[in-house]
Amino acid sequence: MKRIFSGVQPTGSTHLGNYLGALRNWVALQHEYESIFCIVNLHAVTLPQDPKVLAEKARELARIYLAVGIDPQVSTIFIQSDVPAHAELTWLLNCIARLSELERMTQFKDKVRKQRDNVGVGLLDYPVLMAADILLYQTDLVPVGEDQKQHLELTRDLAIRFNRDYGETFRVPEPYIPKVGARIMSLSDPTRKMSKSDDDPNGCVLLLDDGDTVSRKFKRAVTDSGADIRFDETRPALANLLTIYHLLTGKEMHEIEDHFAGSGYARLKQELAEVTIEFLKPVQERVQSITDEDLNQLLEQGRNRARSIADPTLRSAMERMGLVGARN
Ligand code: TYM
Repeated sequence: MKRIFSGVQPTGSTHLGNYLGALRNWVALQHEYESIFCIVNLHAVTLPQDPKVLAEKARELARIYLAVGIDPQVSTIFIQSDVPAHAELTWLLNCIARLSELERMTQFKDKVRKQRDNVGVGLLDYPVLMAADILLYQTDLVPVGEDQKQHLELTRDLAIRFNRDYGETFRVPEPYIPKVGARIMSLSDPTRKMSKSDDDPNGCVLLLDDGDTVSRKFKRAVTDSGADIRFDETRPALANLLTIYHLLTGKEMHEIEDHFAGSGYARLKQELAEVTIEFLKPVQERVQSITDEDLNQLLEQGRNRARSIADPTLRSAMERMGLVGARN
């Protein structure tokens, strides 16, 4: 069985973009692939975090994975910092990664632009840690949103370079980026992706938002000129709302257009809020219903399973580099 690996950072709160761009596809793919889903808390600390909040958020994210439909009977869920091999392989890959290729990463450049002083080395190294995550599990496919595409290319480059220099060690993974939903945009600025770090909280619908908040956010969503409800790439705000509607209801775009024929934005926004609330309600109920004990057990099993795959991969990379056997 081929293997998928993916992860979400336990920072801020998980939003509709994370779900529609990534989590939704994990749920769909988990029965076709051996699936490993990580809570990437080592990535989270590349920016300052409150330690107590970070630990809570990691557990909350595990609950969200389960609540959106990750099935622990078939998939492995674990916390990145529970498996030391991630940090160790990062070091080995650091030694073949080039400064110039990390400095070219657009997410790094964006973060540096926002925060000119005190740019931590972790931010620069972030994609190498991500490569280590993926390569440790001999991953075939990585389901992610479009913003991770460049990081996946770097992962492939590092795997190919390591295999060439030290001998075949890592499987070279392929990205899985959905055709629709790979880039859900902010409700308050449709030129920017929906993001946890959005300065305007109204742009981002969180999976744990209550009904009133969801309604308010959609009501305030910016719109384009033109009154009819029709999918049109040149009207990005409307296209974004229709994409969310399409993905949450499963209805085809022409059906949606027929449904809203003669109506305006107000009705679309109201129905979109209703559809979203209906989708989120059972997710939120499941988040609440998972006990601490069950979660502990699940994360411990996940850690053991993850280590059983990651440790041998790390070991063979170390052997190839001449880091094992010096004591014989
Ligand atoms: P993160 O936590 O920023 O986002 C998690 C996933 O959600 C996707 N995503 C979106 N998809 C569509 N529209 C959006 N507006 C949107 N915003 C986010 C992201 O593409 C991602 O798939 N570096 C990763 C985490 C990571 C990882 C990995 C992923 C670490 N190691 C190994 C895959 C494999 C990140 O920051 O995701």
